[in-house]
Amino acid sequence: MITDSEFYEIVAYFKTHYGIELKEKKILVSGRLENYLMRNGIESYSEFMQMVRSDPTGNAAKDIVNALTTNHTYFMREFEHMEYLRQVVLPYLKKKEYASKDLRIWCGACSSGEEPYTLACVLQDFFGLESDRWDTTILATDISTKVLAHAQRGEYLNEQLAVLPDNWRRRFFTKVSADSMRANETLRKQVLFRQFNLMNPLPFRKKLHVVFLRNVMIYFDEATKISLVNRIYEKMEPGGYLFIGSTETIDKSKTNFSYIQPSIYRKNI
Ligand SMILES: C[S@@+](CC[C@H](N)C(=O)[O-])C[C@H]1O[C@@H](n2cnc3c(N)ncnc32)[C@H](O)[C@@H]1O
Repeated sequence: MITDSEFYEIVAYFKTHYGIELKEKKILVSGRLENYLMRNGIESYSEFMQMVRSDPTGNAAKDIVNALTTNHTYFMREFEHMEYLRQVVLPYLKKKEYASKDLRIWCGACSSGEEPYTLACVLQDFFGLESDRWDTTILATDISTKVLAHAQRGEYLNEQLAVLPDNWRRRFFTKVSADSMRANETLRKQVLFRQFNLMNPLPFRKKLHVVFLRNVMIYFDEATKISLVNRIYEKMEPGGYLFIGSTETIDKSKTNFSYIQPSIYRKNI
């Protein structure tokens, strides 16, 4: 049984290090950590937190992140964003960046890869035969190493891929077993997966054209969310687009982003 003080220690640790608010999630926290503690012969939550804080390898911290983040995602999620990208954003960027042919796209909470691979399909489709002449590599980051390993492998069950249009599945995925397929090299080369904690300073040298930050800020409190949105604003190209989850909003009075339509924002040109 987790005690109140052990639970609040974990809540505080998560909030400070990852921005994630767990204070209403006691059952989730104890449910997900109990097995981990048993498997690793750890006697109590406080012993575990002691390990998390003092482990120089960072492995215990990595395990707690992998256990306590919620990574739910799927292909074609909120596809209206992809349509907007295809119809409005990419035609604009193709014209604007015709000389450099360099698009900088960041997917900031990519989970197991379904979101950036959907994006990669849209980009391949849009640029078609010109794909090779454009650098449209998507930087896809997440805090969880577990989901990143899955994303990098790029292997998914047929039922997860069933929502993709047939021609995308045929073009971009290869059967690896009776019930799964793997993203092929073209698609995998289109996405660069890295671990990154959104609470850290944003590491971009060049400014970004498009940012997808969907369904992650729901785990942050308002101050953390606004601070992140404003840090992202500073790293974006004028005219760049920010997509957030369709159930999320940004308080217009606290950001310089212009509101375009629900869950789509833009930095002024
Ligand atoms: C619910 S998933 C959303 C996945 C995808 N963006 C989508 O909309 O389908 C939220 C992801 O945010 C990640 N995450 C949570 N806090 C984070 C942080 N501080 N830094 C980076 N990633 C974080 C989690 O690991 C998880 O994979």
